Amino acid sequence: MSFQAPKGVQEYVPPQSATFLAVRAAFSGAAANAGYSYIEVPVFEDTQLFARGVGASTDVVTKEMYTFSDKGGRSITLRPEFTAGVMRSALEHGLHQGQLPVKLWTTGPAFRYESPQSGRYRQFYQFNLEAIGTEDPAVDAETIAVAWTGYQALGLTQVRLKLNTLGCKQCRPAYRAALQDFLRGLDLDEATRARVEINPLRVLDDKRPEVRAQVEDAPLITDHLCASCKAHHDRVRSLLEDLGVPWEDVPRLVRGLDYYTRTTYEFDHPLLGAQSGIGGGGRYDGLSEDIGGPPLPGIGFAVGVDRIILAVEAENLAQEAPPRVAVFGVPLGEEAARRLFRLVHELRAAGVPADMAFDGKGLKGAMKGADRSGAAYAVILGDRDIAAGAAQVKHLASGGQTAVPLAEIVTTLKERLTK
Ligand code: HAM
Repeated sequence: MSFQAPKGVQEYVPPQSATFLAVRAAFSGAAANAGYSYIEVPVFEDTQLFARGVGASTDVVTKEMYTFSDKGGRSITLRPEFTAGVMRSALEHGLHQGQLPVKLWTTGPAFRYESPQSGRYRQFYQFNLEAIGTEDPAVDAETIAVAWTGYQALGLTQVRLKLNTLGCKQCRPAYRAALQDFLRGLDLDEATRARVEINPLRVLDDKRPEVRAQVEDAPLITDHLCASCKAHHDRVRSLLEDLGVPWEDVPRLVRGLDYYTRTTYEFDHPLLGAQSGIGGGGRYDGLSEDIGGPPLPGIGFAVGVDRIILAVEAENLAQEAPPRVAVFGVPLGEEAARRLFRLVHELRAAGVPADMAFDGKGLKGAMKGADRSGAAYAVILGDRDIAAGAAQVKHLASGGQTAVPLAEIVTTLKERLTK
């Protein structure tokens, strides 16, 4: 029998895997440029970290976590997101006791048991960035600008930024109560009425037309902000204006995770259909305390690598796979194969990407391999050439061929390739 990948898992094989790396490089480049350091955190954590960090009333925690008991009887969960784990790790390593803010990025797979469709997977890939230990609205704007720079670096022109604030400990409770009062007066089904009591903001995010129509006149957080949240929000927006990053104010924007406070945002791509969210983030000023740490504000985002690949493809920006190597060895005979094997190794050591034909392929098959590798030059070596102490160096695009002494191949090719 043969196996297939598990349901809902996305894989990236060549040549598409080149786009996968390009997406990650665009964002890690932007993050490193803005002074963010790399952090590597585990794929699994104590289940309670996510229950308390992400929030017990979220879909992510109640329905979507990959949770299991390990052989030691611990409850373990595959990370559904990075923020809780990054905060846990920063606290555990005392990063917050040094210079603030602590600026970190990471990337890798995350896991949510969702019903799979295009752009929605059970194992998906995020690029994630966090700035911990700052309340400065400039850092809110900085995180947005880094994400924006990443999208721009990929050449994407249709990304839209939706911006909102969710208020803070001071102003959100009064808003929540006002929203609940409004929602309790509506004609809603039982599950939604229950949600009104537990997580009323989520009701604003309900996609069903009959609910949407009813919540049209719901009170908005932006009319209930305290003075400091309002000043914070205004500052973030004016800084974005300074940077020329366009956004749309979406006062009903609700995020799927519970830790958010103040600034929240999402990036959307109009060509992606139902799963158009290609990134999202915001402030989480209470998360540290929720997971047993000291008061420590933070802000960050994650972008969905899988969905950005779809956006890159939708905008026809997918690059052709780059050449695998610059030089390809074509050995004719066993002794030549041995000599070329060493030569290819020497080329690699000299920084020249090189590969060669294996399996005793004949000239025709080996030359086909050279063409497919994208190499600029083939080095053809036969037993007679060894006796003469030289190999044939063939420029594949022009077909031009010269004999080069074996001892000079590395320097000659290095020179020709840098011309
Ligand atoms: P999130 O909005 O849940 O935020 O996820 C961020 C991005 O991950 C989404 O915009 C989407 O592109 C991608 N994504 C989420 N679920 C899936 C899925 N099942 N399949 C494919 N892509 C998906 C967070 O995860 C927060 N931790 C972001 C953050 C960092 N907030 C502050 N710091």
